[in-house]
Amino acid sequence: MTSAVRPLDPNSFRAALGRFASGVTVVTYRGPGGPRGLTVNAFCSVSLDPPLILVSIARWARSHDMLLNQPFTVNVLKPQQEALAKHFAGMDNHAQIPWYDGQLSPRLYGALVHLECSPWRTYDGGDHSILVGQVIDLQVSEGDALGFFCSRFVPIARPIPSQPTLPFDPFELPYDA
Ligand SMILES: Cc1cc2nc3c(=O)[nH]c(=O)nc-3n(C[C@H](O)[C@H](O)[C@H](O)COP(=O)(O)O)c2cc1C
Repeated sequence: MTSAVRPLDPNSFRAALGRFASGVTVVTYRGPGGPRGLTVNAFCSVSLDPPLILVSIARWARSHDMLLNQPFTVNVLKPQQEALAKHFAGMDNHAQIPWYDGQLSPRLYGALVHLECSPWRTYDGGDHSILVGQVIDLQVSEGDALGFFCSRFVPIARPIPSQPTLPFDPFELPYDA
């Protein structure tokens, strides 16, 4: 028996996705005229071996075609880098961009994490393309994270040192747990 599926209301879909709290990254890469970037919260870990991550990039973004088969860096932002998140979302102009060179792609100085990637695979993601990158270098620092929740930037506080960590790693959870 088939049942008719009602069409999804796009506003409700957006509202639902907006209630998934995320961090905020800027994906940076070498463009034809120099370093470029765009703000991205559709970032996800994929695999430990090989080390893979993904970012989902709108087909209509200027970066889309420039990023295809191009090395890129995922810069995970700190709360004090909100102005950079706005700049790379085309919302306002941040005069000084703290660029520096990574091995294959540019990075933003002061980010919480840098994940430098070489292109691994690209998948069709509807009106987006899913770029899977192989992490070839990384840098981790300490600090709070910039978050995005219900269409707002929010600070995400680092855990207090006395807070116990979970006894397992999400990658190691048995799937029938
Ligand atoms: C918090 C936030 C998250 C965003 N996440 C994404 C994303 O995951 N993928 C995407 O393609 N655009 C995302 N955008 C929109 C792009 O940053 C924006 O369209 C940008 O201007 C594209 O730049 P470009 O046209 O120079 O490539 C996001 C914007 C904001 C403010």
